[in-house]
Amino acid sequence: MTLIGPSLMCADMGVLKETVIRFEKAGVDFFHLDVMDGSFVPNFTMGPDMIKSLRPYTNKPFDVHLMVKNPENHIDTFIEAGANMISVHTEATEHLQRTLQMIRDKGLKAGVALNPSTPIEELKYVLDTVDYITVMTVNPGFAGQRFIPLMYQKVSDLKRMFDAEGYNIDIQVDGNIGYETIPGVLENGANMLVCGTSSLFKPEITFEEAVEKLKKFIENQKLSQLETNLK
Ligand code: DX5
Ligand code: ZN
Repeated sequence: MTLIGPSLMCADMGVLKETVIRFEKAGVDFFHLDVMDGSFVPNFTMGPDMIKSLRPYTNKPFDVHLMVKNPENHIDTFIEAGANMISVHTEATEHLQRTLQMIRDKGLKAGVALNPSTPIEELKYVLDTVDYITVMTVNPGFAGQRFIPLMYQKVSDLKRMFDAEGYNIDIQVDGNIGYETIPGVLENGANMLVCGTSSLFKPEITFEEAVEKLKKFIENQKLSQLETNLK
């Protein structure tokens, strides 16, 4: 099953509550909340108070993507804010395994986010402590960037690693995930799509229309992939 989640940093912050309510009704699977510290990435977005204010308006999982230095210092803060899943950048901590264990011990799903140039070998000794991998398909920090083509290969290499090691770990892709890039990431093994200005936040259509169109597109992609595999 392919899961889709709006990247709320792309929303109009003046109507964030309504945006969450509308996307929940439209049938998204999770909400992706990008947290940036202006140091690990050159941008700032939302903090724990904003996330906490949105919590009452949906039961869908809050997937908090910590693009912050030393994320291990902030896990409790984002749990308290209502996170269900937290991904941390391997490039931002000296103690990845301990941080993932901490997230899991508190009952949340633990994720590792990889910057585009970071090799997947970084994950070798935490495969038993991780629930999902966030493949940054753009350089983190801003919406509206272009997909980095080598990331198709990275998704495929990840899938191969998980299959070879016998792990069932979700592969999330984050950055310029839209109609041009979804076929390739699906074909290579991604199953969680972070959807921003490239797919769900398009001024010319409503959120409801965008979700319906995207779900249909994904369905068709998977059907045509199935037909190709059966040939
Ligand atoms: C980039 C963010 C992405 C981004 C997705 O750092 O993590 O979630 O907002 O939006 P688009 O589709 O504009 O790349
Ligand atoms: Zn993100």
